[in-house]
Amino acid sequence: MLLPQTIKFPNRQMNKRKPSDFTVIPGTGGREREIDDLVLAAFRKRFGTGPEEVAILSALRGDGDVALELVALERHGALLGHAMFSRMRVEPAACTAAALGPVAARIDRQRQGIGQALIGTGLEVCRATGVDVVAVLGDAAYYARFGFSAALAAPIACPFAGPHFQVLELRQGASRGVAALDYAPAFQSPSR
Ligand SMILES: CC(C)(COP(=O)(O)OP(=O)(O)OC[C@H]1O[C@@H](n2cnc3c(N)ncnc32)[C@H](O)[C@@H]1OP(=O)(O)O)[C@@H](O)C(=O)NCCC(=O)NCCS
Repeated sequence: MLLPQTIKFPNRQMNKRKPSDFTVIPGTGGREREIDDLVLAAFRKRFGTGPEEVAILSALRGDGDVALELVALERHGALLGHAMFSRMRVEPAACTAAALGPVAARIDRQRQGIGQALIGTGLEVCRATGVDVVAVLGDAAYYARFGFSAALAAPIACPFAGPHFQVLELRQGASRGVAALDYAPAFQSPSR
């Protein structure tokens, strides 16, 4: 199967102040430490968290629960962002699901389309590799632009169910009949 190994994102109109030219690449390129620092800074600034999200990334990798991770890189290779997609348990096991998050853009380069490119590319790769449903926990105002829906998630049981729990169908109708979606163990006790 042909996967988008390198996808270029040209300058966005909205970013006249700070033009950005970057690529999104599946994998980490062995730059986990750098990714940790970027994620730590982004979550610390936004939510006053960070160590929790870094521990989740580490536990997902250690447990073999990574479905896909991607990095955004500047033309000269500087790390600009990261997105994680992890395996979910589906009940009944009639479809394949992945959880999006954490996702982060470097704090000095936010609002330049990096988050959007990471998530958009990640969703395309998920679709191409047979993921039927993607779940996310986050601000509905942000994730709605990718098609995530809290209404679609509402009938599905999940330890993190609530207004922030949203679902996107990559295969139409795939979430119908899904009774429960469970996050990987890393999300329950990431620092173990
Ligand atoms: C969320 C995040 C990944 C978005 O990346 P980004 O590169 O800054 O986002 P983009 O440039 O692709 O999109 C910018 C748009 O997203 C909006 N946006 C960013 N974060 C948002 C949020 N939490 N809620 C609602 N809108 C948000 C911006 O207002 C902007 O909207 P506009 O295009 O209408 O002006 C980034 O802001 C970040 O790292 N935040 C801290 C960590 C975090 O909150 N992660 C998400 C939870 S897992």
